[in-house]
Amino acid sequence: MKFKKNILCIGAGYVGGPTMAMIAYKCPRYRITVVDVNPTRIAEWNSDDLPIYEPGLGEIVKATRGKNLFFSTDIEGGIRDNDIIFVSVNTPTKTFGAGAGMAADLQYWEKTARQILQYSQSSKIVIEKSTLPVKTALAMERILNYTKSSLSFDVLSNPEFLAEGSAMTDLENPDRILIGCQDTKSGLAAREALVEIYANWVPREKIITSNIWSSELSKIVSNAFLAQRISSINAISALCEKTDADITEVAKAVGMDSRIGSKYLNASVGFGGSCFKKDILNLVYLCRHYSLHDVADYWESVVRINQYQQERFVLNMLTAMFNTLAGKKICLFGFAFKANTGDTRESPAICITRRLLEEKAEIIITDPKALKNAKADLAGVDGKVSFIEDPYKAAEGCHAIAILTEWDLYRNLDFQKIYDNMTKPASIFDGRNIIDHKRCFDIGFNVYPTGKPALTQS
Ligand code: NAD
Ligand code: UGA
Repeated sequence: MKFKKNILCIGAGYVGGPTMAMIAYKCPRYRITVVDVNPTRIAEWNSDDLPIYEPGLGEIVKATRGKNLFFSTDIEGGIRDNDIIFVSVNTPTKTFGAGAGMAADLQYWEKTARQILQYSQSSKIVIEKSTLPVKTALAMERILNYTKSSLSFDVLSNPEFLAEGSAMTDLENPDRILIGCQDTKSGLAAREALVEIYANWVPREKIITSNIWSSELSKIVSNAFLAQRISSINAISALCEKTDADITEVAKAVGMDSRIGSKYLNASVGFGGSCFKKDILNLVYLCRHYSLHDVADYWESVVRINQYQQERFVLNMLTAMFNTLAGKKICLFGFAFKANTGDTRESPAICITRRLLEEKAEIIITDPKALKNAKADLAGVDGKVSFIEDPYKAAEGCHAIAILTEWDLYRNLDFQKIYDNMTKPASIFDGRNIIDHKRCFDIGFNVYPTGKPALTQS
């Protein structure tokens, strides 16, 4: 069969895999190839055990793989045979040299650009799907158009706004698709080619265009605004605990103002995930680069409050448990950075586990999807840690439970059964406010919600 378009995606991660699966599903006449340097990842994409857990992803991959969706390690062939190339490689925070701990590490992205230049035998549209600092497209165009060959490369910015755990519904029904391009004849033509792909299922009015720098910046700013709301509500949760106000009631009252809105106002143990912190730090770095130090300080405080919230959670546990955790067994309900994913990157659970181990507690971790990643995250840490999938077994003999991920599963557990098998006094620290606190108190638990008065026995 002759396909209408041949599309390549470099990077088969949390974005590249699901995004390309959705395009393949919605556009059966396009041939989509996803390549990656990591052969294990590609083998997993080609197996029944996909490398990432995402509700609905398995069904879509099953419906398209081998028909118009292909996973491969042949980067060279992929570049040669496709004219539209999405780049969705990782852009972590730099850990070395200038900008360490702040700036985005662009080595993977730049390597990809050089590979595109090296293997191309025809002109290409190159699409930034990765989240990148503003002006990266310019650097990219310089690399790609460095040689005086007859080939031309148009770089577009098309940031991805999906959230993990709801990636497939976000991809199917996006709030918006943003495409930034250079204001040149070929830039505008490249933009049209990309609009045409999304228009297969996204209403035209949701596909918005901008200049390329606005597009790059909008992605980082979106994440900064979302994270800022979480830090705002978490900061107020600390005040609620001091004043007997209830964060859920405050969030409801505040969020009903249509100018503010009700989403992203759930107090928590802090935000995690691979992007919020890295993207804000990148924004901070950018502001400092342009000597906007007050602006940089403002955004940096969002990350600071997030660290404070995690530390506060541990200190609250310590205080509530008679100022010593040494030798006590603490069960963590959830290790993923949010529900419906197995991803643990930057999960608050990592920092909280490390801190509890420093206090010499013994940690038992349970999670329906993230135990494999949890084991990798904690490999080599000092202290006693075990991993048990069944939450009832995990909590047996423990002095306390800390709820760190808002898995639905934890809302409906038989807490009487759990309480009966725990060491007394038994405490629950609800870092997500998902369980029925009064019911658990009535069973006999000391209950410590986030941003609400504690319910303690006598
Ligand atoms: P990821 O680490 O899951 O995947 C990136 C993949 O790129 C890896 O499999 C890696 O092996 C591969 N790779 C790196 N260099 C390569 C090269 N030269 N050639 C081929 N493959 C290469 O990362 P991710 O979570 O998918 O994020 C990718 C980008 O998307 C980041 O910039 C991130 O900020 C952004 N983003 C992520 C999310 C999310 O929910 N995870 C959402 C929106 C945007
Ligand atoms: C986030 C954004 O929501 C996406 O739009 C963006 O594309 C993505 O980052 C990215 O660039 O990587 P994600 O990190 O997958 O998506 O998940 P979110 O649902 O945003 O949650 C992030 C963290 O905030 C989680 O730890 C979550 O538990 C926490 N959170 C979220 C709260 O603590 N309170 C809330 O009210 C909402």
